[in-house]
Amino acid sequence: MSRNLYYEDELIEEKFNGFMFKRLVEYAAEYKMEYIKVTALMIGASFLSLVPAAINMKIINEVLPQNGVVPDNVLGITVLLLSLWFTLSIGSVLCDFITSKASTTLGNTIVCKLREDLFRKLMELSFDYYDSRPTGKILIRITNYTDEIADFFINDMTRVVQNVFIMIITIICICLVEVRMAGMAILVSIPLGILLWVIAKALHQCMRNDRNKQSNRTAFVAEDINGLEVIKAFNREALNDEIFVELSDKFHKAFMQTTRYRELFFPLSFAGVRILCSVAMYLTALFIISNHIGAELTLGALVIITTYMQRFSNAMYVMCQRLQSFTNMTANIERIFEVLDTESDIVEKKDAKELEIPYGSVEFQDVTFSYVNGISVLEHLDLKIEPGQMIALVGPTGAGKTTIVSLISRFYDIDSGSIRIDGTDIRDVTLESLRHRIGVMMQDTFLFRGEIIENIRFARPEATDEECIEAAKKVFAHDFIMKKPEGYHTVISSQGLELSGGERQLLSFARLLLANPDIIILDEATSNVDTETEKLVQKLFTTVLKGKTCFIIAHRLSTIRNADRILYIDKKGILEEGNHEDLLEKKGYYYQLVCHQ
Ligand SMILES: Nc1ncnc2c1ncn2[C@@H]1O[C@H](COP(=O)(O)OP(=O)(O)OP(=O)(O)O)[C@@H](O)[C@H]1O
Ligand SMILES: [Mg+2]
Repeated sequence: MSRNLYYEDELIEEKFNGFMFKRLVEYAAEYKMEYIKVTALMIGASFLSLVPAAINMKIINEVLPQNGVVPDNVLGITVLLLSLWFTLSIGSVLCDFITSKASTTLGNTIVCKLREDLFRKLMELSFDYYDSRPTGKILIRITNYTDEIADFFINDMTRVVQNVFIMIITIICICLVEVRMAGMAILVSIPLGILLWVIAKALHQCMRNDRNKQSNRTAFVAEDINGLEVIKAFNREALNDEIFVELSDKFHKAFMQTTRYRELFFPLSFAGVRILCSVAMYLTALFIISNHIGAELTLGALVIITTYMQRFSNAMYVMCQRLQSFTNMTANIERIFEVLDTESDIVEKKDAKELEIPYGSVEFQDVTFSYVNGISVLEHLDLKIEPGQMIALVGPTGAGKTTIVSLISRFYDIDSGSIRIDGTDIRDVTLESLRHRIGVMMQDTFLFRGEIIENIRFARPEATDEECIEAAKKVFAHDFIMKKPEGYHTVISSQGLELSGGERQLLSFARLLLANPDIIILDEATSNVDTETEKLVQKLFTTVLKGKTCFIIAHRLSTIRNADRILYIDKKGILEEGNHEDLLEKKGYYYQLVCHQ
């Protein structure tokens, strides 16, 4: 998915090809037997559905009186043929039933696994992927698009395959009855094949456009819901409504274009099928008559040929009808495989080992980093933090403080240099073990919709209620939680709007403490709590966090004055460092900051 915004169409780099379809089908590889069974049944069902016409031919030729003469043993033959006709009809219905059941299993298996893979991939992709794409466009791929693929496999796939078989078998049967009809088969199949291909191409293009507009609209809705507070605060409802109507209108137009194509193509293709079949039959009849061999063509054979021609054209029509779902599916597959094939920027080495932190020293060696190529945020940064040290990062907005701590958890990979924890390069260890040892509380706290206690437990799912409450007590969140209508079981929304900014921070802090990491990163962790609570929380730094390597970022300098080292970050690196007293004495950047506050 190319980087874009809600009003920009996505550029699909990898176009649909047969290999993608193969990959999709392979999702249900363990159902190999099921595939064989379904294919055999589909051939069987197609075949069975055609046999009654052959029986009709037999009845006409062998049961009906010929020139007023009733054939011998007419009753026996009639009963036999009708019983066979009845059995075959039942068999055909049974085949249909079993095929449809099996295709539902296959379709669901394929889509379940596809969706699991997609979700796993989305969890694996680095922040860079999400930084530049609207969430709605990602979301719609794992929901709507996969659902539509399931629909195709469950409802359309069998019909398409079955009708292909019917077309092949009818042509073979017609040729078997009257070999001179082979020319007719070619006459019909080739132009129809070309017609189908042209329709599929045009529909696929329409579908792509349709997907784009649908994606844009979803992206806008998702963004609007996330930013509802801001929208209301700035009275943007009416303007956003206009944007939505415009996006919806574009989607509607794209959809209508697809519908118009479909409405034009289907009657056209149906008429095409019928005209070609009639022409073919007419030509064959002419050929037979002109060769004076018409007498060889029995009435029964004529009936069967006409019936099969009818079946052939019906099968063709069903194929045309299913083309829309097929092209819908191909347009969806492109987008889904594009996500699946996206390489994460953060790749674990094959021989990555577990990170064991006996001490917790962190070292930046000549680190240069940029989010966007050519615009570096950090340049040649050198920094060594001893185990158990409390480091404070201060500096102007946008200086790179959050960036520095994000790099320790390997949320982004550096351009050059290395970051080492206890001497081990973080690129040599597994991401799971690295992030397990580091507790991060980022600037924008995120809570999940659910009970308060579950939000705390998020860090360690096996933690008991008592442990969660203990963590809340440590960060002085217990009192406010108990004042909530249902205490720890009060449900909060994903944006935690039922809580104040400070309360949200305290909850996130409790969550982090419960995880008990060795290295702790607090990015503006207490910026929203009142000064009284902050003083209490600060005691934590000297008790609970003692012995752990801590990175604390704060604009409020009272939070960090007791840090072992204070780093003043600006101009792509560290401009000043020392403890509070040293830096005040220095009368440099930090001193200026303190004076301003
Ligand atoms: N995901 C991103 N993609 C591109 N640029 C980014 C990204 N995140 C941050 N930046 C840029 O990198 C620079 C450093 O940002 P960073 O968030 O590290 O600053 P900060 O020191 O934490 O600022 P603040 O005190 O406001 O939190 C800024 O210029 C910012 O615009
Ligand atoms: Mg920041």
